[in-house]
Amino acid sequence: MAHSDVDTFFIATPIFYVNDVPHIGHAYTEVAADVLSRWMRQSGIPTWFLTGTDEHGQKIMRTALANGVTPREWADRLVEQSWKPLLKTLNLANDDFIRTTDERHETAVKKFLTLLHDKGYIYQGEYEGFYCVGCEEYKPAADVLEGQGEFEGSKLCSIHSRPVEVLKEENYFFKMSTFQQDLLDLYANQPDFIQPASVRNEIIAFVNRGLEDLSISRSNIDWGIEVPFDADHVTYVWFEALLNYITATGWGTDDEAFASKWPAVQLVGKDIARFHAVIWPAMLMAAGLAPPKKVFAHGWLLVGGEKMSKTNLTGIAPTDITDVFGTDAFRYYFLRAITFGSDGSFSWEDLSARYEAELANGLGNLASRVIAMVNRYREGVVPTMPDASDADQAISRVMSEAVDAANTAMHNFAPHEALAQLWRIVEAVNGYITEQEPWALAKDDGQAARLDAVLYTSLDALRALAVTLSPFMPETTEKLWVGLGADTSLGALQEQIIPDAGHFGVLPAGSAIAELSALFPRIEQDS
Ligand code: ME8
Ligand code: MG
Repeated sequence: MAHSDVDTFFIATPIFYVNDVPHIGHAYTEVAADVLSRWMRQSGIPTWFLTGTDEHGQKIMRTALANGVTPREWADRLVEQSWKPLLKTLNLANDDFIRTTDERHETAVKKFLTLLHDKGYIYQGEYEGFYCVGCEEYKPAADVLEGQGEFEGSKLCSIHSRPVEVLKEENYFFKMSTFQQDLLDLYANQPDFIQPASVRNEIIAFVNRGLEDLSISRSNIDWGIEVPFDADHVTYVWFEALLNYITATGWGTDDEAFASKWPAVQLVGKDIARFHAVIWPAMLMAAGLAPPKKVFAHGWLLVGGEKMSKTNLTGIAPTDITDVFGTDAFRYYFLRAITFGSDGSFSWEDLSARYEAELANGLGNLASRVIAMVNRYREGVVPTMPDASDADQAISRVMSEAVDAANTAMHNFAPHEALAQLWRIVEAVNGYITEQEPWALAKDDGQAARLDAVLYTSLDALRALAVTLSPFMPETTEKLWVGLGADTSLGALQEQIIPDAGHFGVLPAGSAIAELSALFPRIEQDS
């Protein structure tokens, strides 16, 4: 199988700018990384999940000034009041959180700059060009548009639709052009290095057009990390920010920790795929380090057909959704409704409809019916499974096929597909119960063995669902797990091995189940 060579799973999200509060676009990346890492961890694969904040640069400096505080005060405030609370809102099990103002980061960044300087990959030169503060990037002429209307006479950034600034500076440059062929070789030799294919093709075309050297320092601002060989300069934000992935894992300070975690999988939005798939591996090559295992670029959440963003004032706060639907429904919804790697539109109507149909009426109802019947007909004790009928065997087959397919999908970064596979179990068992009519079997003592079979099969399918859905919905599946009495009979939910969860007959006969309150309560809709 494609994933037989997975020995460790280290995944990193972008580090997010602290000029503003998080919206559901950032939350989407965080949830995806969290679900993937929980799945791998619970598959017995050594796993590490890193996220954090990007705090230097002009954008943050200006926001701080506008708010009458120092950049450091601003960054601290946003990290403590908004970005760290996001981890709780989303129930993320990240292993580390790096801030680019961390001492460990600053020290290692300087070391990296010195290394590349010593190796001759950094030189001084003059740069004049258009700079977009929104992007924190010099823009090539091709990415600059003529302003119209209120911006008549200015040049605009094609991404932010806002005027760019003309900057002329003495800069340090990274000899990125040296690595054009090495990068093309990397893309050719490691065909899954950039995913999905649409992004891969775009990047390869971009690199084929030729690479320029990269400006990596700024002399007109001081909110950054000082260049160790020239105190008048600070490092340019992207060059500095990308290094978080190795400064957080011990590069330059703890070689052993670093060796155990690097190379990582980089999960990013497609807006910043080029930084991660071109600049970042070139920087690593220059330092003699391995490139990431993979750069996976997910699509954009769209609102009204446009990329949801702070600049467009279309940002929706994650708590707007979790306050109403709960954290688990949030986690489920975005991974189920959007093909991972493609853009997807968010709408409250779609969220409500899926909550009702898939969670409340689908999984939730199934769990409460089965547990109520075992309490009513079998005094809360898991029955012994008699010889299986064809219908029972059909369920155990769906369980094992769906779990295998879901596992493959997760290794292919297709959580939407994994959920669709696992929902085959929900649908199959719901249909099975309707057909088998356990309430009718319960009225006939001669059918006691059939009733045992139907109840056992349904319980064990719920057991498999609790285990495999736990990365997606950790709290809800924990409730279900306790409802099944499995915390007592099988041990902690997080200790169950996911790829084995589709094997039938794990829930011990004779063990006691408990009660279950509604997994997905009805939502009070504002009229
Ligand atoms: O770019 N849909 O930070 P950032 C989906 N600091 N994902 C979205 C999104 C949307 N509408 N909007 C944002 C930066 N994202 C740099 C990164 S990394 C070394 C430095 C997510 O705060 C998505 O992951 O602008 C995107 O790539 C990221 O937020 C950009 O976050
Ligand atoms: Mg951005």
